[in-house]
Order: sequence, then structure tokens, then C-alpha cells
Amino acid sequence: MPKFAVIIPAAGSSSRFGDKNYKKTFIQLDNKAVWLHSAERFMDRKDVVQTLIVIAAEDQEYFKMKFGATAAILGAEVVIGGKERSDSVQNALEKVNAEADYIAIHDAARPCIADAWISEVFSAAEKSGAAILATQVTGTLKRSSGGKTIDETASREGLWEAQTPQVFRRDLLEKAYAERAGFSATDDAQLMERAGHPVSIVRGSSLNLKITRRDDLKLASCALRKLPRAKKTGGGNPLDEMLG
Ligand code: CTP
Ligand code: MG
Repeated sequence: MPKFAVIIPAAGSSSRFGDKNYKKTFIQLDNKAVWLHSAERFMDRKDVVQTLIVIAAEDQEYFKMKFGATAAILGAEVVIGGKERSDSVQNALEKVNAEADYIAIHDAARPCIADAWISEVFSAAEKSGAAILATQVTGTLKRSSGGKTIDETASREGLWEAQTPQVFRRDLLEKAYAERAGFSATDDAQLMERAGHPVSIVRGSSLNLKITRRDDLKLASCALRKLPRAKKTGGGNPLDEMLG
């Protein structure tokens, strides 16, 4: 069985979330911190050998006080992040155990992740070396330089919105980051693309949303209740499973 290390970046500044007191990854969502929803689905898996949670230096004391015990019980290691998301992931890469064959990166801000989707993207990465969850863009896209009037309508043909988890063979990801040279990417697949390695797409779900603005927290609360659940053995209601 291949072994996976999981990096959970939670070191952002939550600027678009617009809450003076709380960062979005530390806020409570249905009685559990957002980062913990995101991390725990991985930590239950037998093929995950290490979980690294990346936090900002300024949050170190707060995280230790609020979540230190939980992180220790779960066996999650804390890493200090950097200015850009890629800096945060790079810091965590240096701490990945030698035994990990693959590295999965999942935003702490995506708490609505289902076990089945993790399994699918892990399997795809085993086949191709690099795989991400993504959804086809469905909206009509407008470009507007000033945000007041429309400059043009952009074609959505062939456009996909990247999600996480993004999963890579360890040597490929390390090479992509070694070639990064300070480049700032908003996801890890972009660095893999720059390194010239094809990245497989696994069709994701709109339920796997990223919390960016305050309202996303309400959506996430609804999405959590509708996630596909692991199949129960005996007694499960098949209609319930279909409806998720
Ligand atoms: N992230 C990180 N280190 C950074 C920037 C982002 O670990 N320097 C993490 C965030 O905590 C989040 C994920 O990367 O879990 C996705 O980033 P994003 O949604 O952009 O979060 P923030 O950068 O915190 O939000 P904003 O861009 O609104 O400031
Ligand atoms: Mg950001």
C-alpha cells in the first residue's frame, strides 16, 4: 500500500473573510474548527502516515492554546507557514517523513471533503503521478477591469476550477518546488504544470467548497450535511445513500 503524507495549509490571513477576531480556518463550523473538519478525514485513513498542519507564525500561541491538545492526540504536526501559500507548502515539504511515497495537499479552508473523493484522487495520483479534484466552470464569465462595467464576456469552454486535495508523487512535487524559484502559485498543480508534468483531473463536487467570504461558512454548514457517506454494511437506506 503506498503511503501518503498530507499537508493542510492554514497559514493565510483570511483577508477576504473580513473578520477582525477570527481567521476562517480557526472558526467553529458545526461545533468543530474548520481546519479540523478538513484534516480529520485524512487522519482516519490507513494509507496516511503523516499529517502536517501549517499555521502562521503570529497564530502559534493561539493555536497551541486552543488546538494544541487536539492536534497532539490526533498526531498532527504543526509547521510555520510563509507569506504566500506556496511558501507555506514549501516549509511543510521540508518536514515530510522519508517513508511517504505521495504527498497530498488540502486547504484547511475546504472542510466539506468526503472520504470517497479523497480515495478517488489518491488512486488517480497513483496512476499518473499527479491528480487534483476540479469542477467544470458553469457560470457565464465576465471580465471587468474596474469592477463597475463589463469589458467582455470570457468563454468558459474548457475551463475548470481547481479544488483540493491535490496529490503528487513525492519526487515530482519536490522537483516542481525546487524549480519554483520564488514563483507564487495559488495551487500546487500550477507548479507541476510549470515543471512539465501532466496533471490528471478528477471530477469534484461543488459541495467541496472553499471558505473565502463570510457567507461561505453558511454554505459549508449545509454542504457538510449532504456529503456522501461511507457505505454502511446492512441496514443502510439505499435512497438516502443516493441522495447523499
Ligand atoms: N494559505 C497558507 N499560507 C498562505 C496563504 C494561504 O497556508 N501564506 C492557506 C489558507 O490558510 C487556506 C488556503 O491556503 O487554507 C487557501 O488560501 P486562501 O483561500 O486564499 O486563504 P487566505 O489566503 O487565508 O485568504 P485571503 O486570500 O482572503 O486572504
Ligand atoms: Mg489567499
